[in-house]
Amino acid sequence: MTTTHTAYETDLDLFATEVLLDPFPHYRTLRDLGPVVYLTEHDLYGLFRYDHVRSALVDWETFSSAQGIAMNPTANELSADSILSMDPPRQRTLRKVFDDALRPRYVRRVAGDIERLADELVADLLRRGEFDGVADFACKLPVDIVMDLIGFPRDEQRDNILKWALGAFDFMGPAGERQSSTFPDVQALMQYLVAEAKPDALLPDSFGRIVYAAADAGEITEGEALMTMSAYACAGLDTTIAGVASTLWLLASHPEQWRAVREDPELVPSAFLEGVRMESPLQFFSRVTTRDIDVAGVIIPAGARVVHSYGSANRDERHYTDPDRFDVRRNPADTVGFGFGVHTCPGRTLATMEAHALFGALARQAGAIDLTGEPTRTPNNITRGLDSLPVRVS
Ligand code: HEM
Repeated sequence: MTTTHTAYETDLDLFATEVLLDPFPHYRTLRDLGPVVYLTEHDLYGLFRYDHVRSALVDWETFSSAQGIAMNPTANELSADSILSMDPPRQRTLRKVFDDALRPRYVRRVAGDIERLADELVADLLRRGEFDGVADFACKLPVDIVMDLIGFPRDEQRDNILKWALGAFDFMGPAGERQSSTFPDVQALMQYLVAEAKPDALLPDSFGRIVYAAADAGEITEGEALMTMSAYACAGLDTTIAGVASTLWLLASHPEQWRAVREDPELVPSAFLEGVRMESPLQFFSRVTTRDIDVAGVIIPAGARVVHSYGSANRDERHYTDPDRFDVRRNPADTVGFGFGVHTCPGRTLATMEAHALFGALARQAGAIDLTGEPTRTPNNITRGLDSLPVRVS
């Protein structure tokens, strides 16, 4: 006979500033508490171990996205037409639009541009010697190439899009001061998408044109088209910037690991995956259970909101040996940093291509990377990235 338990309770505030700034020791505590944790502060169930996060992501019929994946009702209502807030079969229809646009064959058309721009960028940064690893290195390809791919007009609004998108992620956290304070960013992003990034203002041959063509053909609704543009803006830019900046920070603070990559640039793909595993640009999303579900002997009742932490799963010592060690040879291809199951990231190929071009160019051209100051970061309810990363490259 199997015994079932109720979830292990904790009053830890997972979204408190100091926890968001350094979540990893807290994740370990939560993983050790039990397979399912109940977070009393926000009335959320939580999954923190690798196996359980991955199983929940695969079992979309039980862990549903259809009531939104944010942790407050307003954000979930606003994103009802987003692909992220859907289960199959509705999600599959929209997903086809993303997959068509982000198909590796299609994305490879711009691969030459990505490689060339990365080489030029790194040559320029080497001439400068000192630079900001976020603004000057990690942001460049998402702003110059990915915004072109999405089709956003080439104007000064591009820098604002990054800020609004970060605000939109913050707005997905549990109701509270940090979450509500970013509502103006959400409004500004939507206003921009409606009034400025209109279908006829988008660059030719862009993802945006594909999206609105699908709406014109009746394959998706106008609302879904708008939320698809929002998903591109939010999911496709700051995530990559965070992943690249975090990987650069890890390489700069582990000189022996960077030396290994320079000596063998074939390690670049593994090093980037390891950066995504260690720092997980997206730390959490949530689902709602459609039935009572037994997770390793603990019952989560039907109708519960369950937060799952990609960031914690990626550091689970039950799955990864010595998980807090940055090891460019680990090659953690099974990281849940890009999600898993039906919502697994359709932009993975594109993000990976950008990162490989940047770190490949750096490995070929640069010597040592030194930190010249403390990196800074702003806590965010969902994302984990850096604001600035002062470095010197020889
Ligand atoms: C290092 C970079 C990136 C990381 C770490 C990342 C991470 C993720 C994760 C964890 C999910 C799963 C969400 C869930 O489980 O509900 C996801 C979904 C998604 N990502 Fe990414 N992503 C990255 C880059 C991109 C790029 C470059 C694009 C597009 C240009 C993109 C577009 C999307 C979209 C549209 C979804 C939703 C898919 C669906 O709901 O079916 N991502 N991403």
